[in-house]
Amino acid sequence: MDAGGDMELPEWCKLLPKIELHAHLNGSVRDSTLLELAKVLGDEGVINFEDVVHVIMKNGRSLPECFKLFDLFHILTTDHQTVTRITKEVIEDFAAENVVYLELRTTPKQNESKGMTKLSYMKAVINGIQAVDTVDVAFVTSGANNLPLSETTPVNCISNCNKRKKIYVRLLLSIDRRETTASAMETVKLARELKDFGVVGLDLSGNPIVGEWETFLPALKHAKEIGLPITLHCGEVPNHKEIKAMIDFCPQRIGHACFLKEEEWTRVKVLRIPVEICLTSNIQSERLSSLSNHHFADIYKVNHPVALCTDDSGLFSTSLSNEYHLAASTFGLNKRDMFILARSAIQFSFADLEVKEELSKIFCEAEGTLFM
Ligand code: IMP
Ligand code: ZN
Repeated sequence: MDAGGDMELPEWCKLLPKIELHAHLNGSVRDSTLLELAKVLGDEGVINFEDVVHVIMKNGRSLPECFKLFDLFHILTTDHQTVTRITKEVIEDFAAENVVYLELRTTPKQNESKGMTKLSYMKAVINGIQAVDTVDVAFVTSGANNLPLSETTPVNCISNCNKRKKIYVRLLLSIDRRETTASAMETVKLARELKDFGVVGLDLSGNPIVGEWETFLPALKHAKEIGLPITLHCGEVPNHKEIKAMIDFCPQRIGHACFLKEEEWTRVKVLRIPVEICLTSNIQSERLSSLSNHHFADIYKVNHPVALCTDDSGLFSTSLSNEYHLAASTFGLNKRDMFILARSAIQFSFADLEVKEELSKIFCEAEGTLFM
């Protein structure tokens, strides 16, 4: 019997506990917040509000347009107070979708005019995690006494007291493809420094036609040496020299993988590298023309490790519940398939064993309700 009683599929997908492994902070900001921030900057004469509203509300953007938009988002969001605000809101939004583990990634930014360093940017992010008050947030900061985060409260597990929902939050630091080797190295060192503040790994992202793999390799190699897991945006464009080099590097996960050739898939499958799949993002950013021949179908069929993710839920007006619904309706997954798929993502997360066990328990408990 198909489980879940007579609950409609979208509602069921929302109820399903979910693991989010590929979400960019600045791509996940609510439109309403962006508009509010744009209004303030418009009033101050920093931007032209009308032009910006048009850009924010537009649906369907090519990949290059998305990166122009990120530059605009960064103008709107990059001061400490706003970074704290958007972090808080993004976590609340994911929790509202029943995401029980969120691996949120963001690019540490420095901006002299705002007195911002990569470290102070991350402090603002961490303050945002601590500021969440509508859900219970589990966020590790053990043994943090010697870290340069004096304004941030180091405690073992920050638990905001309202117990309606619980979400585990961990952070990945992104290296932007526009960065230099030295800047990428700085981000890796920061990730190591912030290990006790919930940072569990690194990401390489940014405009895929910008920058060379070799530029980031020394920093990524260093990350590997010091035991920091890595996920790479891989194959967003058909740059096969780079795709090969990325697979040879053997990262812990890859994101997108839209333009891999048969032999590249073979290597990914042999190496069992988990793939973060972002269906709506791939279509809306025009990386792929249709879901009907999306590579998810093939890798799912052969049981390759795969996780459904949002990428930029704000930018692409989606949610993780919606991504599951989309996968179900496009590829014929039933509720049991979705439950197994959602639960399997626990193993591909960069969280420690203890957290993984807690997440498994959450799925175990939810099973009864979902399959009555
Ligand atoms: P942030 O790191 O919190 O500022 O999130 C936005 C950033 O994430 C963008 O400026 C890009 O560098 C990166 N990003 C978001 N979506 C994508 C994507 O689809 N491909 C590559 N990079 C992305
Ligand atoms: Zn991404």
